[in-house]
Amino acid sequence: MRVLVLNGPNLGRLGTREPDVYGAMSYADLVAECGKAGAEFGFEVEVRQTDDEAELLRWLHQAADASTPVVLNPAAFTHYSYAVRDACAQLTAPLIEVHLTNPARRETFRHTSVVAGVATGTIAGFGLESYRLALRAIAALTS
Ligand code: DQA
Repeated sequence: MRVLVLNGPNLGRLGTREPDVYGAMSYADLVAECGKAGAEFGFEVEVRQTDDEAELLRWLHQAADASTPVVLNPAAFTHYSYAVRDACAQLTAPLIEVHLTNPARRETFRHTSVVAGVATGTIAGFGLESYRLALRAIAALTS
């Protein structure tokens, strides 16, 4: 089985981006960790990142058409993109929303997720472990 791990804006800059908030791990570390977790759970993981909302929408449409399970960190789109939310609503396989940090502990504008209401579930606040837990959830939901 193939699982898509999709990452929104600024996540490609992990490692240099606000290390006090997001830690020292790089985007390459995130990709490696997801690949490792995928191998453990027995599926092929494809990790992608974009700063472009339209590109993210295209990937979500492809996942909807192919019934591919998705782990999604919508990054800042989480808080305001109804377009991303509407694309997520079309998914037919499980969708796990993930965040490295716990947005509920941060600025008020981060307390709202417009995606959460159409996700199968949300995992937030565990750094890279959030992704591993999300992939584990996909494994449990699809076995
Ligand atoms: C984030 C949290 C968002 O509020 C923020 O805009 C991000 C990253 C996280 O993974 O903690 O870019 O999604």
